[in-house]
Amino acid sequence: MPAAPSPDDATAAGLAQLQQLGTPAGTAALARAAALVAEGVDVLPALGRLRAEVGVELAGPAWELARLRARARPVFGADADVLFLTSDTLEQAGRPALAARRAERLLAGGTGSVADLGSASGTDTIALARAGAQVVAVDRDPLARALTAANARALGVADRVRVIDGDAVELVAAAQGGRVAGCPAAVLDPARRAGGRRQLNPDRWSPPWSTVAQLLDRVPRSVVKVAPGLDHHRVPAGIEAEWVSVSGSIVEALLWGRERAETGRRASLVRDGAVLELTAATDPGPAPTGPVRGRLHEPDPAVIRSGLVSLVAAELGATLIDPTIAYLTSDGASDSPWVNSYRVDEVLPFNLKKLRALLRARGVGRVVVKKRGSPIEPESLARQLRGPGAASAVLVVTRVAGAPTVLVCDVSG
Ligand SMILES: C[S@@+](CC[C@H](N)C(=O)[O-])C[C@H]1O[C@@H](n2cnc3c(N)ncnc32)[C@H](O)[C@@H]1O
Repeated sequence: MPAAPSPDDATAAGLAQLQQLGTPAGTAALARAAALVAEGVDVLPALGRLRAEVGVELAGPAWELARLRARARPVFGADADVLFLTSDTLEQAGRPALAARRAERLLAGGTGSVADLGSASGTDTIALARAGAQVVAVDRDPLARALTAANARALGVADRVRVIDGDAVELVAAAQGGRVAGCPAAVLDPARRAGGRRQLNPDRWSPPWSTVAQLLDRVPRSVVKVAPGLDHHRVPAGIEAEWVSVSGSIVEALLWGRERAETGRRASLVRDGAVLELTAATDPGPAPTGPVRGRLHEPDPAVIRSGLVSLVAAELGATLIDPTIAYLTSDGASDSPWVNSYRVDEVLPFNLKKLRALLRARGVGRVVVKKRGSPIEPESLARQLRGPGAASAVLVVTRVAGAPTVLVCDVSG
């Protein structure tokens, strides 16, 4: 088996490819590759055609980048057509719309310059430059620096971006007078994956938690992207923690430095370009618990992660079905944007045989299984419960007052 390329070799190869793709011949090869991707041509015939048309050297890199651009397009829009990416930097990239929102809040009131500490392919750098700041983009990875510079040029903001080689750990350790890397504001988005695996321990992020805490302490106008699962106990005093969801999925969590903190915790729900927010200065504590009633409500993950379920419960007149499970229940229906609601038709102890019989009796042949606090595998349970009936139902497999329970629900909540 051939030896895997060393990181240095891979970086050198990446830099050489980037350089080639930036030439007029590279641009033409990229246009041809993009057309083949758009036509849906399979990889082998596409590479065969590209090799014949643009040469062996450009064919592979052009095809790879054209595929990455197509993958980026749903989130990056038209920018994707000109961006330079690697699969790693695309995987690490945040959503440009959210980067723009962050940039706007960070720079509100005007900031001359801002440091992007760990720029990767430059999503935050571009957003900050577009918001009007002079950006010092720092990365210790030469390929990331080259990508940031190429993307700043491709998107017409190069005059506002200076890319530098630096170690964010050292720069933050040297921060003083509210400034880092010479800037009075900073964005830090630590790498939270290593070797393709998510690093759950913030001390193992790069830069690590100690740098995150130091930045928030020393540079009051700063924002740090953290893992949504961050333990609330880690959030330093005076710092705002914000959890952001889009279309019902949590997409990022942010820690806002003292100068930008407006509250203790915030859940933000982004929908159709608008943002709904729920805030609390301090931990509002748990919602009360009570028996299952006519409706079940599943809070948005930003509400759950931010620990603000009790605020939504109060708004809905709802209670938790179990002190350890984030499902709410109330008598009445709700059109609150903070929950998905279901009508509860049956509540029964978890028992596969009885459940199957009940579904048959109700004419239910298809179920969507949701679970919380249960080890079951939703898709496999849905398969096991498939039957001849024409009706469908939502099954919520969970715990109620500690007991494994199934709620047979209808979406018309
Ligand atoms: C998660 S990525 C940033 C993604 C970027 N904000 C975006 O949305 O596209 C983290 C970046 O930090 C860089 N990095 C990690 N540790 C660093 C350090 N100690 N100094 C400088 N850069 C570092 C990595 O090379 C990587 O490019």
